[in-house]
Amino acid sequence: MKKRVLSGIRATGRLHVGNYLGAVKGMLELQDDPIYETLYMVADLHTITTPYNVDELRTNRNEVIIDYLAAGLDPSKSVIFRQADVREHAELAFYFSSVMSIARMQHLPTFKDKVKQYPQHSTMALLNYPILMSADILIYKAGLVPVGIDQEPHLEVAREIARKMNEQYGTDFPEPKRFATKGEYVPSLKGEGKMGKSVEGSFINLTDSPDVVQKKVRSMPTATEAGGEMAPGVKALFAFGNLFVPDSMEDFHQQYDAGTLKFSEMKDAVASAISAELRPLQEKRADLEKDTAYVDRVIKEGADRAREIASKTVDEVKQKMGLG
Ligand code: TRP
Repeated sequence: MKKRVLSGIRATGRLHVGNYLGAVKGMLELQDDPIYETLYMVADLHTITTPYNVDELRTNRNEVIIDYLAAGLDPSKSVIFRQADVREHAELAFYFSSVMSIARMQHLPTFKDKVKQYPQHSTMALLNYPILMSADILIYKAGLVPVGIDQEPHLEVAREIARKMNEQYGTDFPEPKRFATKGEYVPSLKGEGKMGKSVEGSFINLTDSPDVVQKKVRSMPTATEAGGEMAPGVKALFAFGNLFVPDSMEDFHQQYDAGTLKFSEMKDAVASAISAELRPLQEKRADLEKDTAYVDRVIKEGADRAREIASKTVDEVKQKMGLG
């Protein structure tokens, strides 16, 4: 049997460069390797674990599918679907919640961060976030998950759930591992933390025009005090350099050490490399936007194929837990 791969990205808006390097590139690599069977979803259920706008979600759950297709995810090679279209995910998450303690979930760094960010919204859905993510993965018995490094604590929960379910109920869940990519950590343009949708001014969208990309990269805070340590914005700019202009980095480092580096030149070099990489995706996206019938068909067929596998796992779990 082929090894299964599952991954997903939350439907919080159009994809940005952090999603692309941290997750989508890994998804593409595994999709094109015939030893894997790949399933890629839009995590729209996860989107409702933090405050959201209903109309925006309705749009974004399709926008992410279009971004996936534009980036090269291919429905003839991968099952591409929206999580909420496969009801079994939520059902399995409930069964899984019976083997995890409240304390374990409350101590996860990701939970604590979100509670800090949205103190008025520490909901049960948020506490259950990692359990739902475990259900996403284990419902397909996937052993490999291409996601960013920040998701490692959630994968630990998935492995723990797999072990507990196997011990207590005799299921055969694998313990999923993360598939890391070179761009697993893309810094924020602001220099603090990682590129993420929830921080305004931190990200470059895959749909940003060359002008917008240039403006955003130029705005990175690189002013350095004389003799001081590399400012956070400079570190971030060098990280972008490693990802997008690796061949020029030796030069940039030398110039930096000699105090002759012109940040504006380095920024423009990075920005134009980013735009060159995004151009083919943007062209493909323009075609997809015109062909809504095709996108709708991908969504429908993806859901049907995913549901076929998911419903078998749920039936098996219900049976083993005394509910079938
Ligand atoms: N939590 C993931 C993120 O924020 C998104 C996600 C939801 C996911 N379910 C998943 C990723 C299952 C991989 C597998 O990036």
